[in-house]
Amino acid sequence: MVKSTVSIPVAIKLNPYFSSIGHMALKLQRGGADGLVLFNRFYQPDFDINELKIVHDMNYSESNEIRLPLLWLAMLYGRVPVSLAATTGVQGATEVIKYLLAGADVAMTASALYKYGISDLHHQ
Ligand SMILES: Cc1cc2nc3c(=O)[nH]c(=O)nc-3n(C[C@H](O)[C@H](O)[C@H](O)COP(=O)(O)O)c2cc1C
Repeated sequence: MVKSTVSIPVAIKLNPYFSSIGHMALKLQRGGADGLVLFNRFYQPDFDINELKIVHDMNYSESNEIRLPLLWLAMLYGRVPVSLAATTGVQGATEVIKYLLAGADVAMTASALYKYGISDLHHQ
């Protein structure tokens, strides 16, 4: 549907909760997806049970969270002909290198930018 409407490449950001990531990835690629982004990391608010309020603090990612996307990038690489992008847990160069080794074409970061700022990111 989207692919028949636009002429630019379309990438789909997946969540990690599909029962069969591989099957889903193949279906998306056959449906026209040019790229897949692994994975979205949902914002997860908390409750303050004493104040009975929603806690809107940010729960930023850590480097050990790369393991799940790392696994699935390696599984999909060479099997599903799409561009692969990695997101979740990138704190610095180490995680980028690991993602590229697993088969990602590109890696991106969000939490680390909030934690360290742009100027300190390259030191991680
Ligand atoms: C403050 C904040 C806002 C975000 N907003 C979006 C968004 O609008 N759309 C989206 O696809 N992902 C959004 N994300 C998710 C990030 O793009 C990224 O996929 C996720 O945070 C995992 O990467 P990280 O471990 O580097 O944070 C957001 C993340 C943060 C921290």
